[in-house]
Amino acid sequence: MLSDFGGKMRILTRKGKITEFKSAAVVVPYFEDVKELAGAVKLLDEETGGMIKDIIATGDFKGTLNQLSVLYTRGLIPAKRIVLAGAGKKTDLTMEKLRSVYATAAKQIRSLQLKEFFTSLDFIGSNESIEHTVQAVVEGAVLGLYQYTNYKTVDKDKKRTPNEFVIVEEKEEVCTIIRSSAERAGIIARAVFFARDMVSAPGNDMTPTAMAAEASKIAARKNVTLRVLDERKLKKIGMNALLGVSKGSAEPARFIVLEYRGGINADPPVALVGKGLTFDSGGISIKPAEKMDEMKSDMAGGAAVMGAIMAAADLKLQVNIVGLIPATENLPGGRAYKPGDILKSLSGKTIEVISTDAEGRLILADALTYAERFKPAAIIDLATLTGACIIALGDLAIGMLGTDKELKNRLKDAAEKTGERLWELPLWEEYHELIKSDVADFKNTGGRPGGAITAAAFLSKFIGKSPWVHLDIAGPAWLTKDRSYIPKGATGIGVRLLVQFLKDWQKRD
Ligand code: BES
Ligand code: MN
Ligand code: ZN
Repeated sequence: MLSDFGGKMRILTRKGKITEFKSAAVVVPYFEDVKELAGAVKLLDEETGGMIKDIIATGDFKGTLNQLSVLYTRGLIPAKRIVLAGAGKKTDLTMEKLRSVYATAAKQIRSLQLKEFFTSLDFIGSNESIEHTVQAVVEGAVLGLYQYTNYKTVDKDKKRTPNEFVIVEEKEEVCTIIRSSAERAGIIARAVFFARDMVSAPGNDMTPTAMAAEASKIAARKNVTLRVLDERKLKKIGMNALLGVSKGSAEPARFIVLEYRGGINADPPVALVGKGLTFDSGGISIKPAEKMDEMKSDMAGGAAVMGAIMAAADLKLQVNIVGLIPATENLPGGRAYKPGDILKSLSGKTIEVISTDAEGRLILADALTYAERFKPAAIIDLATLTGACIIALGDLAIGMLGTDKELKNRLKDAAEKTGERLWELPLWEEYHELIKSDVADFKNTGGRPGGAITAAAFLSKFIGKSPWVHLDIAGPAWLTKDRSYIPKGATGIGVRLLVQFLKDWQKRD
């Protein structure tokens, strides 16, 4: 039971002056370092008899980042309220701050139970492009309002979100740019909601079979095709690492292959591989009970890959993509795989299972081997792979490891642009020693020290010649506290990063 991705708020662009429109509220960013009012703020101030200057003069509102003040216009202009949204110093403005300003304002609009809000983007200097600004504003406003209410039956209407966000602009040419930029931003936000919804969904409903059903919704789009390998097929081709993990569960495993072809035929695809562990109990090496419920989010990598392909198809990006999602549960059961077991992976390489809780790398091993069949130009995997990565970086950064400098640089660049930040960890030769097994080719754990790195070292054994990067999203996939435009819970991390990466990939020679 997934929602229509909560993307219910319409985003409109209208030509005219901000003071002309009748609305519940007008949101205007206010910069703390302005010397003299200009643009929309000035207009609103003048037509309300100096309301904005007044509140500034009292010192009650300064415009520091995310500070808010609601002014009631008492019929002086058609808009009922002016929401002053502190945006910090104009000289320090970043797209990340702008996302946060509009998320904070949008949440204020929601808490006032208003149906709509208007804004003007005439603060854009000549330096920032309109397109990027609109993207940040729309993403902030929409993503900040995310709520997962699919399973609520009581008080559901208290969670109502505004249904219209209107950007007002005086110049027709600029309106056109805003309109198309807002549409593209809306597509991306919808894909983030799709991923968040999948990750928020409980394990009893978001099974491997249900993930495949979600994939088929994406495959309804132009140029997208879907193949789902069932257990019979997986046995036949020898995906025994994936099958090994799934043995303890009564839910059948699935291997999801989503292809999007927006590029020319000869263009080798980007392979995106996402961990699809729909519930990770740890298996026989069972996890402690505390917070085990959060392990429904262990398919966040798979959800991100699906969201990214959804957005790429809707944006009609000129790239070829293959998305690979090994999906299974990890449960203890009479037939469950055990510590000491040896699995023969799809690659033919053998793996000694030390901990059944190091299951992600096992299912990814088979998926990475499979990815090489597509002769991809790059392989990027996303996985909530290790607790060690959370210890290293917290929930603020994705851990990045890989074999290809150019690919890493492209991802760093996309991370900077989207605010889905990442940090590189080393993958030196010495770490590879730690995953050698006495009885098989490799073992599936390398001990606690450097756990995020030895996990990546393990994955690297299943990469052939393709440039490869591994993104450990264990930290940022799930938040325990609200952030401005990311409510606590499922974040949809990776979707915006991958979409930005793919957008830039189009322009590659
Ligand atoms: N899915 C977990 C990693 C994880 C933990 C993600 C907490 C998000 C929050 C993964 O399958 C796992 O259990 N990893 C083990 C590996 C260890 C046994 C080598 C870990 O990190 O403890
Ligand atoms: Mn695990
Ligand atoms: Zn896991």
